[in-house]
Amino acid sequence: MMESYIKSGKIASKIRDEASKMITEGTLVIDLVEYVESEILKSGAEIAFPCNVSLNEVAAHYTSPANDQTAIQAGDMVKLDLGAMVDGYIADTAITIIADGNIDENYTQDEINLHEEIVEASEAGLEAAIATARAGIEVSKIGEAVHEAISEYKLNPIFNLTGHSLEQNNLHAGISIPNYDNHDHYILEEGQAVAIEPFATNGEGIVNDAPGHYIFSYLKSRPFRMKSTQRVLKYIQNNHRFVPFSGRWITNEFGERKGNIALKQLSEAMAVYAYAPLREKQNCFVSQKEHTLIIEKEGCTVTTI
Ligand code: CO
Repeated sequence: MMESYIKSGKIASKIRDEASKMITEGTLVIDLVEYVESEILKSGAEIAFPCNVSLNEVAAHYTSPANDQTAIQAGDMVKLDLGAMVDGYIADTAITIIADGNIDENYTQDEINLHEEIVEASEAGLEAAIATARAGIEVSKIGEAVHEAISEYKLNPIFNLTGHSLEQNNLHAGISIPNYDNHDHYILEEGQAVAIEPFATNGEGIVNDAPGHYIFSYLKSRPFRMKSTQRVLKYIQNNHRFVPFSGRWITNEFGERKGNIALKQLSEAMAVYAYAPLREKQNCFVSQKEHTLIIEKEGCTVTTI
């Protein structure tokens, strides 16, 4: 088990660092996500969830639909969040990069300075969390450390987003790691795997659902009249039963029309869950940094360093 966590961690961190170099003015978001997903498969690992590339005020849960024309602009705050899985043991890691290019054309120097601080703050939050994590500690203490570190920048964490425990084939295994002291007294145990992901913003620190659904999870079997919807459901049950999948993978397999009709019917019937992109309430910029770690007696091992 530990060996698989280390292996998936190495794969995810290497691909994260390689893919970061593509984050620059003019890169299409779809090229970035398809690069990450194909590299995970090439490495022999499985994709633990669709590669998320969320821009600026969007904190998470965006991945490209088929034929996405979204291009990265100079100065965009780009969050790249990816997951690799070896024997079902998941590495989940994210980084925020401010896209280079002619930044001055899009932003004032004051805005650029602020954006750099927002990125630094989530990094500091993650460092504080890692320094705090060990067996026997309450998860709210980790949240407190994250909140304190981000507050030093006079910024807010995203209060309604959390890290999460990981188990075999299970990306969100029930325990949440908050980004502030939420008085959750759950105590971490030796050997547990957790993904910790502080988000920082100059806004209020609340995210709401934004339009569109690009990421889905299988929930349960349901009857459907339409043959093509039945076929899509069968395909999801066979290929994406445990971890989230991309709408793009479905439309690539079944065509845009059939795929999208099926996804709509499946989510309305709650056979699949549709995730909305999450946008900061005041449309302020959001940064994120995430590592996966294994809890130990005296500290932790970061698998995605
Ligand atoms: Co995560």
